This record gives sequence, C-alpha cells and structure tokens, in this order.
Amino acid sequence: MSHSEVNDSPLIIALDYPDQESALKMAGQLDPALCRVKVGKELFTAAGPAILEKLTGLGFEIFLDLKFHDIPATTAAAVAQAADHGVWMVNVHASGGRRMMDACRERLDKCSHKPLLIGVTVLTSMEAADLQELGCIDEPQDYVKRLAQLADSCKLDGVVCSARESSMLRQACSDSFKLITPGIRPQWAAANDQRRIVTPAAALEAGSDYLVIGRPVTRSDNPVDALKKILAETGLSSGL
Ligand code: C5P
Repeated sequence: MSHSEVNDSPLIIALDYPDQESALKMAGQLDPALCRVKVGKELFTAAGPAILEKLTGLGFEIFLDLKFHDIPATTAAAVAQAADHGVWMVNVHASGGRRMMDACRERLDKCSHKPLLIGVTVLTSMEAADLQELGCIDEPQDYVKRLAQLADSCKLDGVVCSARESSMLRQACSDSFKLITPGIRPQWAAANDQRRIVTPAAALEAGSDYLVIGRPVTRSDNPVDALKKILAETGLSSGL
C-alpha cells in the first residue's frame, strides 16, 4: 500500500520533546487520520527506537528526521535500520554526495518496507556568509537547486526545503519529486523563533507536498482543533 492510500493529509506534526512521555501525551491527543508525526534528533536520542514502535502502535506514520550524513556504507546501513523500524520517511544530507545517496537508494530498494528517502539541501539557518566560510561560492538558492537536482538524479523521493524555494524546485526537479517544508505558520499563530515563515495555504500553492508544523499545533490549548483549523484553511479537510 502506498502512503497516499493510508493518509492523504499533507501535515507532519513535529514531536519536539525531550522525553517519550511528553511525546506520547501529545501524540495521544492527535488523530493519525489527519496527520503524520516527525521524530527528530532530540526525541530519538532521549527515547530510542522504542518511541517509533509506540507511535506506530498508536497508528501514526513517522518521518524519522535524523539527517544522516556519513560515508556511503554507514549511511546506507542507517537508512536500512530505519526501514526495519517501519518508518514512513527518512532523510540524509544531500551534501553527502552522489555515492552516498546512490548507496542509500540501492539499499532501500532491497528492503521489503521502503520509506520515502528524502535529501536535506541547505539548512535554513545558513546564510550566504556561512556558505562562503565553508568555501561554497554559490548563492544559497543556487546551492539548494544544485543539491535538489543531485538528489533527484540519485532517485531520492524528494527534499526538505523552505516553502520560499518550492516553486523554483517544482520547476527544476521531476514531477513526482516531493517537497517537504518546515517554517510554516498559520496567520493566527505566533512566529516563535522562525523568521521566513509561510502560511500553510501559500506553501501548498507554491508546490510543497508536505508541511512540517510544530508549535502552532503542539503548543496550542487544543491541538486537534488547531490541526483541523489548518486543514480547513488549506481546503483539504473535506477529503480526509
Ligand atoms: O515548531 P515549529 O513549527 O517551528 O517546528 C518546525 C520543525 O521543523 C522543527 O522540528 C524544526 O527543527 C524543523 N525544521 C525547521 N527548519 C528547517 C528544518 C527543520 O524548522 N530548515
């Protein structure tokens, strides 16, 4: 069964918590028919693979956001472990290069359960000066495009990018290439520490396939209401 037959929601809720108990308390308030969940480095380092089994048991599909970056054999072995845990999506840094991404693709193609394999382009915390200091003379936008096209040519399933890059990447990459975008804020939500924010509707309009949303839902007094409000704003609630 493809993921779209299970759940057509574009929303991925970031479970950014320091322990399993808090993450499960939030997940227990959410509805797996309306969203997926993201487990990142903080929660995974604190709670280990057990959190994946527990969230799967609650009916959630999981984006395991560990942004692997290592030699090809090590990275491929890590994504295969993620596949064994049954996650829906896993990611690696595209700057790990072609041989690393090829190794991950080949390894996942041999797994019975194949998570979506996603590349991270340029972290949105990096500015032109940060890239220059690393010896990268490209403008950030050009480097994002270069890495996304490299990931596409290695047959990755998509990239994480800013919604401000979605329309450019929609043109530059293949049609089925998925664009996953954080930095999403409904107009009624606080920006928190995010700077270049985009509303859910604008991100989908620009060509994003999945929206990563944390605090507007997880810090809301009523997370399910917040989630439904976002879906209603994007015009997607009726189809779910
Ligand atoms: O709470 P908020 O909606 O800002 O959470 C966004 C999530 O997306 C967090 O887990 C954050 O680490 C992640 N993220 C991001 N910007 C990126 C990549 C990931 O905000 N460029």
